[in-house]
Amino acid sequence: MFNLNSIIRPNILALKAYSSARDEYKGSEGIFLDANENPYGSLNRYPDPNQLTLKSMLAERSAVKKENVFIGNGSDELIDLAFRIFCIPGKDKAFTFSPTYGMYNVSAAINDVELIESPLDSEFQINLNLALATINKNKPKLIFICSPNNPTGNTLRISDIESILNSTNGIVIIDEAYIDFSNSPSWLTRLNKFPNLIILQTFSKARGLASARIGIGYSTPEIIALLNKAKPPYNVSQLNQKAAIQSLNNEAQYQTNLKLIIAGKKQLELAFRQIRSIKKIYPSEANFILIKIDNAELVYNSLCNMNIITRNRSAIIANTLRISIGSKEENEELINALKTL
Ligand SMILES: Cc1ncc(COP(=O)(O)O)c(C=O)c1O
Repeated sequence: MFNLNSIIRPNILALKAYSSARDEYKGSEGIFLDANENPYGSLNRYPDPNQLTLKSMLAERSAVKKENVFIGNGSDELIDLAFRIFCIPGKDKAFTFSPTYGMYNVSAAINDVELIESPLDSEFQINLNLALATINKNKPKLIFICSPNNPTGNTLRISDIESILNSTNGIVIIDEAYIDFSNSPSWLTRLNKFPNLIILQTFSKARGLASARIGIGYSTPEIIALLNKAKPPYNVSQLNQKAAIQSLNNEAQYQTNLKLIIAGKKQLELAFRQIRSIKKIYPSEANFILIKIDNAELVYNSLCNMNIITRNRSAIIANTLRISIGSKEENEELINALKTL
């Protein structure tokens, strides 16, 4: 039986959150002499610590309440916060699949938490029996599931994820950084069904705001309250909140860019099929394609020498490169470069 209070780190359970000046006074008009700010300038005031405008907009479009929404300084901040809220360093464990997004491992190491990695099968799907047995044995406090998965690009079977959600007393974090590019539904529609689910999304990919560092966590109000308690008070700058709000107000631009990226993926897939050294194009529901290619290391270095930077994933999946979808022109340059090799 999932019991939230029993899996929270005792120091976080006992923590009294910092209350900022802007938490105590809610109005936006007045003479503000409460936060030791500078009265001059245009960026002189602290940002809204609760990001209420942005949260309300996200809640409305996702049919959830703003109490279900957390904004982080990128979703990487949420990954780290989850470790700090739930895992006692040197004692508790976390779980994920491999290969997957590298920050789960890095954040686990920073927090001195053992991350158990269960290998995905040859189709990069979950081996459910193995996963459930490992989870049952190790009782991880956190389970990270990246879908669509980075670097493989595929979504993970819904029924497998559901079995994991139902069979653990820990928190399941479904990382949907690439969900906008996928035909599979987001888990957001089922958020209310699971008391132990956190869904991560980000403005860094489909919304083109990687530089603004806006990550979103959707969960129960109880888990969102814990994230709020543990975050630095002003974790998202006013400039970045504004950039995210502008993006949500410009749906046409988002849709146009999304279509261009999906068309660019088709352009690359078609061209890759004509290149003999490319042995496999992994099906992708993300804004990148993983390819298996002869002499990946050499190809990677040759492309770098031509100022075309890809991601060499050969250390985790033999002879593979992960290639982000660029603009039409960038994709053409890449194709031409690959043809010369
Ligand atoms: C699966 C996944 N999650 C999270 C992130 C980080 O997102 P953010 O820019 O919101 O920190 C990335 C970035 O590449 C990613 O691939």
